[in-house]
Amino acid sequence: MTKKIYMGMSADLLHSGHINIIQKAAELGDLTIGVLSDKAIASYKRLPFLSYEQRKHIVENIKGVVKVVMQDSLDYEPNLRSERPDVVVHGDDWKEGVQANVRNKVIDVLNEWGGELIEFPYTQGISSTQLNNSLKEIGTTADVRRNTLRRLLNAKTYIRVLEVHNGLSGLIVEHAKVTKNGVNVEFDAMWSSSLTESTVKGKPDIEAVDISSRLQTLNEIFEVTTKPLIFDGDTGGIPEHFAFTVRSLERLGVSAVIIEDKVGLKKNSLLGNDVEQNQATIEEFCHKIRVGKKAQITDEFMVIARLESLILEQGMDDAIARAQSVCDAGADGVMIHSRLKDPAEILEFCTRYNKFSNRKPLVVVPSSYNAIYESELQEAGVNVIIYANHLLRAAYPSMMGVAESILENSRSLECEPQCLKIKEILELIPGTV
Ligand code: SPV
Ligand code: MG
Repeated sequence: MTKKIYMGMSADLLHSGHINIIQKAAELGDLTIGVLSDKAIASYKRLPFLSYEQRKHIVENIKGVVKVVMQDSLDYEPNLRSERPDVVVHGDDWKEGVQANVRNKVIDVLNEWGGELIEFPYTQGISSTQLNNSLKEIGTTADVRRNTLRRLLNAKTYIRVLEVHNGLSGLIVEHAKVTKNGVNVEFDAMWSSSLTESTVKGKPDIEAVDISSRLQTLNEIFEVTTKPLIFDGDTGGIPEHFAFTVRSLERLGVSAVIIEDKVGLKKNSLLGNDVEQNQATIEEFCHKIRVGKKAQITDEFMVIARLESLILEQGMDDAIARAQSVCDAGADGVMIHSRLKDPAEILEFCTRYNKFSNRKPLVVVPSSYNAIYESELQEAGVNVIIYANHLLRAAYPSMMGVAESILENSRSLECEPQCLKIKEILELIPGTV
């Protein structure tokens, strides 16, 4: 009897190492490949470059592959139970790290019916990490970048977003990475903040930096990054202008714009009622959202409605009623904001919002209630967590400190420990040396 062979793979950046192992596996019997879904891959590393459908299509056409199924989790168990293979094939590079437990479970489950795990040596001389970095250097297209936010929202229970205001901060969001319990943790997307973009230009956060200027910054950021971006659109301006903004953002490859339900001179939300700010009526806000949705050309671009009811102390019922109205009006998501230290009102909003039958992705900005963990927000049903201003807030005190040190000491020796080494800054950006 021909043996049933099973192999799980991402099949994103395919190289000869993958083909080698597929050939070896196919020699053992009828080979089924479990192509990992976006969700399965995103559970332990970055989203693949190619969509599941594209990856499946490639694998189906590789010689020796008899059948392709979806593997929807890193855990092999569900597919092993449905496929009941005699042999599972894998490279020998998963004995340590995040996959070690997955491997142990494969062995246990196979034991139930006398199946066997066969591991072939990992092909030397080809590094996926290197391929990965090279692809990042090549960059991305507007279409691919724009679409990535929706793919992330489908693949992950929540996504993590950090503020950017220029090319350099974009590079930080692109590359910052830590490994926790064998899992790579990084930012999924960028937030173009009106506060930090205004501040970095020395202007107040009152929509004084015009859209042309903001678009220029986005161009600068997009030139050196590949991750998707959510744009802080402030009030969106008057609806007739908002329609043009939507098209400009969409054309550049921005994934989503968030507009807030304010009218007149907008001030930063974290000022709340300490300054005069006016909330739009729900009718006029819904109208603007409809105009934006109608203006977009692609299916993927998202218009997200930001509600300021809690900021302006209009009460929870008002926030919930507005959330219902904007979802009905076609908004692709809701952002609820709060300026309290205690997350209670946000969590209450989440509980009520989660009951909506046409619930859309929920966005929060935990700047003031910053003791809350991502896991708690995830539990509450939050889909997008934005760290809205932290890179610029970190940069400013450091820059001011160095400026003062030079004044204090009449030389720069003393501030050197606070600075990147000359050698390091020269090597920071590829191509400088
Ligand atoms: C921004 O980052 O500009 C925001 C979030 O709009 S907040 O500053 O909290 O209003
Ligand atoms: Mg803003």
